[in-house]
Amino acid sequence: MKKNFGAKAVITPLPVLIIATYNEDGTADAMNAAWGGQCGGKHIALNLGMSHATTENIKRNNAFTVSFADKKHIVESDYVGLVSAKTEKDKLAKAGLHTEKSEFVNAPVITDYPVTIECKVVSMREEFGEFRVVGEVVNLSADENVLDENGNIDIGKIDALVYDSPAHAYRVVGEKVGNAFKDGNALK
Ligand SMILES: Cc1cc2nc3c(=O)[nH]c(=O)nc-3n(C[C@H](O)[C@H](O)[C@H](O)COP(=O)(O)O)c2cc1C
Repeated sequence: MKKNFGAKAVITPLPVLIIATYNEDGTADAMNAAWGGQCGGKHIALNLGMSHATTENIKRNNAFTVSFADKKHIVESDYVGLVSAKTEKDKLAKAGLHTEKSEFVNAPVITDYPVTIECKVVSMREEFGEFRVVGEVVNLSADENVLDENGNIDIGKIDALVYDSPAHAYRVVGEKVGNAFKDGNALK
């Protein structure tokens, strides 16, 4: 027997994305976002609350960066999802996170996280009382220590977090268990 939960959106896995932007005074901000993801080969979509400092920053700067939260930075990553730059001016310093300006867009890159995607905004709209933004990826960068022997990003070396919404928990992306576009061939 199945149990019905009603109209509840639960998708798994949800990513734990750290969105970094510049505040009006030029300081860096970051927030935790689970309601976001890749749409197509070149775009990242985010669903943000209207009142966040990040939302205002994206509207003003037309740019943001996305880092994958990792196991090494659980506390920092959760903290930036609990506190707003509107009330805590030293938010990133308090989180112990460090930034440098992106070479490609008007947004900070958080150097503590191993992988960062730099985006320029190509679409913004308000829908169902929320702010939906699509960024076009202009650069993807990764620390050398998370690359494989061919120089590609090795997800297994990142310990990326995923958000488990029913349990309000963070989990880590786990073992490789199959080969995409290949294993299904067994049934052809
Ligand atoms: C696990 C987690 C996931 C979150 N996902 C989202 C999200 O997808 N969209 C959103 O608007 N807020 C989300 N938040 C809340 C924001 O990160 C939070 O309100 C943050 O303080 C906003 O910071 P800012 O005002 O400095 O931009 C999430 C928080 C946590 C802890």
